[in-house]
Amino acid sequence: MTDTTRRPALSPATRAAQALRRIDTSTGAVVPPIDLATTFARDADYAARQAYIYARDGGPTVEHAEAVLADLDGAAGSLAFASGMAGFAALTATLRVGDHVAAPRVMYHGGLSWLHWLGERQGIEATFFDAACDGALEAALRPGRTRLVWVESPANPSWDVVDIAAAAKAARAAGARLAVDCTAAPPCTTRALEHGADIAFHSGTKYLGGHSDLTAGVLSLAQRDTLWDDLSRARYLTGSVLGGFEAWLLIRGIRTLFPRFERASASALAIAERLAGHPAVERVLYPGLPSHPRHAVAARQMTGGFGGMLSIQVRGGRAAARAVVLACRLFIPATSFGGVESLIEHRRAVEGQYSEVPDNLLRLSVGIEDPDDLIADLEQALERAGCGR
Ligand SMILES: Cc1ncc(COP(=O)(O)O)c(C=O)c1O
Repeated sequence: MTDTTRRPALSPATRAAQALRRIDTSTGAVVPPIDLATTFARDADYAARQAYIYARDGGPTVEHAEAVLADLDGAAGSLAFASGMAGFAALTATLRVGDHVAAPRVMYHGGLSWLHWLGERQGIEATFFDAACDGALEAALRPGRTRLVWVESPANPSWDVVDIAAAAKAARAAGARLAVDCTAAPPCTTRALEHGADIAFHSGTKYLGGHSDLTAGVLSLAQRDTLWDDLSRARYLTGSVLGGFEAWLLIRGIRTLFPRFERASASALAIAERLAGHPAVERVLYPGLPSHPRHAVAARQMTGGFGGMLSIQVRGGRAAARAVVLACRLFIPATSFGGVESLIEHRRAVEGQYSEVPDNLLRLSVGIEDPDDLIADLEQALERAGCGR
């Protein structure tokens, strides 16, 4: 294999498009093979031929995906998991009874439920703070006890933005590590480690995969220290590694990440601007709008676009929100995000008991379709649903 793209002069977009240019020297194949082996024969000295022994610890395709991800994140190393939640669970598995976690009140609901579960059953206390409120993160810290500060930027589905550099400073002062859920702001727009985070987390199920056809999770670390060893061990012992085929799909998705994200960002901004003045819409939540309370931070942190995710709060409450979803002809009524097709979701319906999401909130995942078609679809749906009339 050759790897000639790791020269500093090449931009991350170029390196991602070529997936580190690992061209097979024997066949010239420009697409990597899919390695599905679960076990690897030892050599004449009974030594492992490469780093591989058993697939629960990874394999060649997983390693290729991790190299692409580490390059993209500017990380010392990346670990790929079978889902985002598997990565999050591995991270929390490194905590001990009595450790404290600070996390936002509005974050991906699965992670929120998991933190409540750990508090109730495993003696790991969490303090939940309002990420939209200045000083709230700092007030949630318990110096000496807080081991992990978790933030999500932009946060799903309020799209609150966190100043990662400020959060990193506060976490460090308290003796904690900062992990940033970058799922809605992948490294084509935000490289969290460069802003001082210790860990960049991604649900690869979203923008990295990009085609709604795989579940994956990623933890990229600024350093290969004891945390790296603990996470590798937790992944091996719990069997939460990404599969070979999914690793291949992840590599393929990342190759088009930059143009997909750029297109989705431009369309989402156009939609946000159009809906901001719409009589049926109470509020548009999108970091790309100058009216967003942390627009300036987002502009500094999201250098490759504000992303394809936005939420709207419609007039008329829950019934009106549901009616809009059902009136859409192009936006697909489904959960998840970051795929090439646009989705719309009544978020409250899936979020569960800890959610603070308003009942009139609809989450939009803007894909790569023609933005004029998407705007026309939303306008006809808002009209047909009769919001606020
Ligand atoms: C922001 C965010 N983080 C984490 C996750 C969990 O990822 P996965 O579904 O891949 O386990 C999700 C899933 O929707 C998410 O939206």
